[in-house]
Amino acid sequence: MIPVLIRLENRNDGKPQTWWTPPKPGTDKEDPEYLKWLLAKIYFRSSDLNRYSLCAHFARAHGVGESFGVAAYRNLPNAHPILRLLQPHIQGIVPVNVQARVIFMNPEEGGFSMFLGVGDETRKVFDNYYKQFCYEELLFPKGVEDRGVKDIPEYLHRDDMMANWKIIESYVIEMVGLAYLSDEDVQKDEEIQNFCKEIVENGFRRFENGAGFPKSLSTKEKLIELLTAIIFNFSFYHASVNFQTFTYSFAPNFPTCMRMAPPNQDEVITMDRILDTLPVGEIAFLGYNVAYNLGVYSPIERFFLGDAAEDKLGIIGENMAVAPEQEACIRRMAERMRELKVKIDARNVGRYLKYDLLSPDNVPLTTQT
Ligand SMILES: [Fe+2]
Repeated sequence: MIPVLIRLENRNDGKPQTWWTPPKPGTDKEDPEYLKWLLAKIYFRSSDLNRYSLCAHFARAHGVGESFGVAAYRNLPNAHPILRLLQPHIQGIVPVNVQARVIFMNPEEGGFSMFLGVGDETRKVFDNYYKQFCYEELLFPKGVEDRGVKDIPEYLHRDDMMANWKIIESYVIEMVGLAYLSDEDVQKDEEIQNFCKEIVENGFRRFENGAGFPKSLSTKEKLIELLTAIIFNFSFYHASVNFQTFTYSFAPNFPTCMRMAPPNQDEVITMDRILDTLPVGEIAFLGYNVAYNLGVYSPIERFFLGDAAEDKLGIIGENMAVAPEQEACIRRMAERMRELKVKIDARNVGRYLKYDLLSPDNVPLTTQT
């Protein structure tokens, strides 16, 4: 993608919007024409980082996920097969979100208001994001259809997300098949119906029409769809937005905030203006630290472990499913993931930049960072 035009708008100060275009090829890097385009791109990147971190990452992966975790713990008893299915995936969400709320979103602690450009407007950003959020957003294959990107060649993110969605879906089909023999079994299971109701009535209470989540479950098919969406959100969707945050460890590439307002249309841009706009060293360092810490996780949180000598069995070690039939489902899923990893590794041979972000061995089971 090549940017051809950037519009900057500083609505808070009521300033008119401004328009920026690339310099002519060969323009000197000290030339104000070159520098104004560079500054416009930096503003765009900083805004994108704020939107991406708060909406795509926190609101969508963490905030939405917490509703599922709390609904599961409040309604499904310990021995319920669906709690046992969900447990490895939901276990990290409440503590990590509490930490995020206490440290990042508490203005007294500094947090986001200190190092993100949105400052004290974090809640307003969440409000705006959630106005357009609905259940269907969690259904990755539907999004691919709706966005019309099914046939774009070399769209590796889509390919890997789709492949992993199918693996999770097959696993959920098998596990649900062991727990429920018919649609009627699902309808008669009060605990799973209450879980579903809680998501709508408490998790998404302020949303129009419960954000489109099913109010009850009448078929195994609908339960499979919901559980696949939940497990996928906690694992592959979260990994797809969490582990790319490392790109903002270098402030000039992705500044977390800008010190000066966007330029006026007729302003002559100098390198000093750019340097005065970028975050101060302490904030750049804080951004680096946050990016680094969000980008790491323990290998034992993976879906499967490559080395049999390792003392924990990945999802099998974490999963509360104990029946031999359930363990067989988990092993089949891990095997499908291993096969996908081999395919992704083969695809990456000879690439200048390998794309293995969504290789199953790089994706934790749960949302913990
Ligand atoms: Fe995260």
